[in-house]
Amino acid sequence: MTRIPHETSGEPNPLQALTLDQLRRRTSMKWRTYPEDVLPVWVAEMDVPLAEPVARAVTDALHLGDTGYPAGTAYAEALAAFAEKRWNWDGLAVERTAIVPDVMLGVVEMLKLVTGYGDAVVVNPPVYPPFYHFVEHMDRRVVEAPLGADGRIDLGVLEETFRQAMAGGGQAAYLLCSPHNPTGTVHTAEELSAVAALAERHGVRVVADEIHAPLVIGGTDFVPYLSVPGAERGLSLMSASKAWNLAGLKAALAIAGPGAGADLARMPEEVGHGPSHIGVIAHTAALRDGGAWLDALLSGLDAGRRLLADLLAEHLPAIRYRPGDATYLAWLDCRALGLGDDPADAFLHHGRVALNSGLPFGTGGAGHVRFNLATSPQVVTEAVRRMATALE
Ligand SMILES: Cc1ncc(COP(=O)(O)O)c(C=O)c1O
Repeated sequence: MTRIPHETSGEPNPLQALTLDQLRRRTSMKWRTYPEDVLPVWVAEMDVPLAEPVARAVTDALHLGDTGYPAGTAYAEALAAFAEKRWNWDGLAVERTAIVPDVMLGVVEMLKLVTGYGDAVVVNPPVYPPFYHFVEHMDRRVVEAPLGADGRIDLGVLEETFRQAMAGGGQAAYLLCSPHNPTGTVHTAEELSAVAALAERHGVRVVADEIHAPLVIGGTDFVPYLSVPGAERGLSLMSASKAWNLAGLKAALAIAGPGAGADLARMPEEVGHGPSHIGVIAHTAALRDGGAWLDALLSGLDAGRRLLADLLAEHLPAIRYRPGDATYLAWLDCRALGLGDDPADAFLHHGRVALNSGLPFGTGGAGHVRFNLATSPQVVTEAVRRMATALE
């Protein structure tokens, strides 16, 4: 695939638009979970204003009272056009898509289509903690195939895990996180083709969570799972929610490969009643008209990850940080600090800075924290200063 360079949009960096006082007036999880004196750099919310095209679309809808039920395929069409422009992928067939309330509920519905009670769902830890909670809540078994020491999918481990997952009979699915949260790893076309071949060989169905797909920086290409050979029976979940900070405006898309259209067609109609019409309007506007804003964000995130690397090298050199090429999340190996399995606890209590503990991310999470970079350089700097104070 040819890489489409980020356009130079002339848009200001949205990560520098809001002051800390403005952010503290927010009532969302990031800002209301901890007391006021704690600096939050944890949950995946971004410290940005709404992109102007999204704000306009939502405001117009509100003025019109256009607050009924969602209809039509505008969201899927906007995503198909975005995929073609950004990833050079023209294989997203609007007729093989369905709106779902959000990505995690979409994951649950896709897993219900291809597995039954007690079946195995393979994940690559360390990985986004709800992969465990949601899968266990639906009475499937989570089976771990840990990432390699390089933060990439270990195909040998994956194959062995597929074999074990299928050993007792029944069905199995592989919940792929692409790009990977928390490491920011962008899987290559070769890796994804190898995954597809392994899944086909062992009869494992692939459900790809591609929510971070628009958030790829650093000259790397995002490769949609459904674009690789052999992935025809795959299912994917995409959404504008991470890249444009729309988690509060619920809507996501389930996408089926050509060999999975019949599965998606079995998804109960009620699921499509979950996304909000305003959410669909917002996500559609983001994908259709939010490209320049996204480019400005990506430039800001690229600067942010370099700033974090520099600050850690200066103030906390024992922390190992390998900047990933995607997401706005930084996965920090704090094992050399001597803070035990849960360094986030020490940073919170002694530094008054809230990071995600690595423990819920599964095998490989102990001794790690996740740092949310989607904020201003001032907040990144202050967060590292507070982390360093925790060690004094
Ligand atoms: C990999 C991944 N999947 C899903 C989600 C949550 O998405 P949603 O709010 O659409 O369920 C997140 C949020 O950070 C995520 O990182």
